[in-house]
Amino acid sequence: MLKTIILIGGPSKGTRFRPLSLDIPKPLFPVAGFPMIHHHIEAASKVPDMKEIIIIGSYQPNDQLSRFLNTMQQDFKILIRYLQEYTALGTGGGMYHFRDQINSGNPNLLFVLNADVCCDFPLQEMIDFQRESSAEFVILGTEVATRQQSLNYGCIAEDKTSHQVKHYVEKPETFVSTTINCGIYLFTPEIFSYIGEAFNKNQESMSFDLDNSTSQMPQEVIRLEQDIFAQQLAGSGKLYVYHTTKFWSQIKSAGAAIYANRHYLNIYRRTHPERLAKSSPEGPIVIDNVFIHPTASVHPSATLGPNVTIGKGVTIGAGVRIRESMVLEGSIVQDHSCILYTIVGWNSMVGQWTRVEGTPNDPNPNKPFAKLDITDLFNTDGRLNPSITVIGSNVQIPSEVIVLNSIVLPHKELNRSYKNQIIL
Ligand code: GDD
Ligand code: GTP
Repeated sequence: MLKTIILIGGPSKGTRFRPLSLDIPKPLFPVAGFPMIHHHIEAASKVPDMKEIIIIGSYQPNDQLSRFLNTMQQDFKILIRYLQEYTALGTGGGMYHFRDQINSGNPNLLFVLNADVCCDFPLQEMIDFQRESSAEFVILGTEVATRQQSLNYGCIAEDKTSHQVKHYVEKPETFVSTTINCGIYLFTPEIFSYIGEAFNKNQESMSFDLDNSTSQMPQEVIRLEQDIFAQQLAGSGKLYVYHTTKFWSQIKSAGAAIYANRHYLNIYRRTHPERLAKSSPEGPIVIDNVFIHPTASVHPSATLGPNVTIGKGVTIGAGVRIRESMVLEGSIVQDHSCILYTIVGWNSMVGQWTRVEGTPNDPNPNKPFAKLDITDLFNTDGRLNPSITVIGSNVQIPSEVIVLNSIVLPHKELNRSYKNQIIL
């Protein structure tokens, strides 16, 4: 019997995702029409003998989260529980704190998934690999295109024939390997004895450090990456890497959400063709992959695509053009406006003949395994780096203006055009 744990973090993290995460916890932010972790839950629920999905985070449980989890339980007919940490306990601390609940019923395998990744979830392949290699613990690994990019991830040095992990460094300062950790793991419950060891070590060092001068972290904080993989499992012969060559990406910023949207829409071609809109003589014109929520109203003369998601209850007017963008629940785009490389937040309004445009920062398409570069918001001159345009929730953009490469905070009423600005 198997269980899945999804690590969703808490309200103090994910600052790069603001202002979009001001209205909704980042794990519930919709990508390709469904909350980010809906994709994880769906993938996990398809694994045979999966008994339960446990979501661990430090968000206060609220109506939105409970409603989402109830719907997921019904849709995928699987037990789902949210366990709240009293404070952020790190990627391993929460698991350890709730080990009794996780181990109840004696699962023999546990998947652990980071919430902010987007991929094909090759979970069954990982199980097969674990069986064949007699590995105790498996990390899903992928490649990065450049040495520089690897430094933003957990880096894995392996034995090329057996795929045993010889060395693991979390976000190294100098180059270690182009094989990186995807934030998707398969463990036997034996993992708890290693986390327990890290826990005891923490306790001991705390008792020598009574004035708490060396550590600001609560003693229960345990990081799977540093405390378990790097310090205990690498080189032990128990930790293996399973390589995926399929699409994988992190979702840390609005630009990354647009990129993930494109890839999930593409995955729907194979997994859920019914979710993709089709062009018909009655309109609207649909180019490549487009998701339109059944409750949205799109004028037949609008043109959408490629890679567009239109959320619940959205209204799209006549002659509107939208490409590489997401329009979230309840928003209105009035006639003849054009939206490119933009996320339009919830319940916002874009007037007529207005143009809202961002700049993609996509990875180099000619380099296999290239990842999105993590760019700073501002360049060295203090100016905003061109990126996806993000319109917060409940924003009003008037008719006949241009909003270019800008970030607009929620509840703003714009009255003119803006370029390369954060509108506070
Ligand atoms: N429950 C809980 N408690 N979850 C947490 C906590 C915590 O205290 N801290 C982080 N998480 C969750 C985050 O929400 C996210 O889903 C995941 O754990 C990892 O988050 P980070 O600690 O911010 O790490 P990262 O995303 O920068 O890097 C991790 O993922 C990369 C792949 O995306 C590492 O595992 C890297 O090695 C890896 O390459
Ligand atoms: P940054 O460097 O600040 O972006 O942090 P990070 O990338 O290490 O954070 P990570 O993406 O790992 O953590 C994301 C978690 O924080 C997610 O689970 C989010 O839901 C949550 N989060 C971040 N910012 C906010 C926010 O403003 N509001 C809410 N409700 N949740 C947030």
